[in-house]
Amino acid sequence: MAKASAEDLRKGFEEHLEQTKGHVQRLEKIFAALDENPKGKKCVGMEGLVKEGSEIMEEDFEDQVLDAALIAAAQRVEHYEIAAYGTVREFAKILGEAKHASLLEETLDEERETDEKLTDHAKEINAEANAEAPRRRARRIQIGSEETKACRIATALKQEFLTSESCAFTQGGNDLCTTI
Ligand SMILES: [Fe+2]
Repeated sequence: MAKASAEDLRKGFEEHLEQTKGHVQRLEKIFAALDENPKGKKCVGMEGLVKEGSEIMEEDFEDQVLDAALIAAAQRVEHYEIAAYGTVREFAKILGEAKHASLLEETLDEERETDEKLTDHAKEINAEANAEAPRRRARRIQIGSEETKACRIATALKQEFLTSESCAFTQGGNDLCTTI
């Protein structure tokens, strides 16, 4: 994350991580009021999204391309959370649990805000990633052509060497052949 926008993105991730602690506290409050245990079923949907995010980190992406991929992964998580909090907020309303609905609404607003911030970051970072990709491709081609050039020189030297050998062979006669 070399650029300023990437630094903002990193800060944004950290801030939202802090916010998430508050989301957990709200849920614990609701569960306590309902006299229910918040621990239990594992969310396989979220587990899959987190795994996808981790896989991105293992890819050979660099700088803005990596940031663009991380934003995409983070937004999938946020959208999943928005869907979940939106649904349970409505359930709370229907069940007449206004306090719980309000707590869930607070979290929902923060999830939406985070998603919007990520969209703003994406606008800038995606454009940078798009501009960076051809430059990287050009660099790769240049490195490739350097390698080709080096390979040609090596082949030419080899041929030169073989020519000298055959020259020595013709000059030196059959005896020299065994020394080559
Ligand atoms: Fe979130």
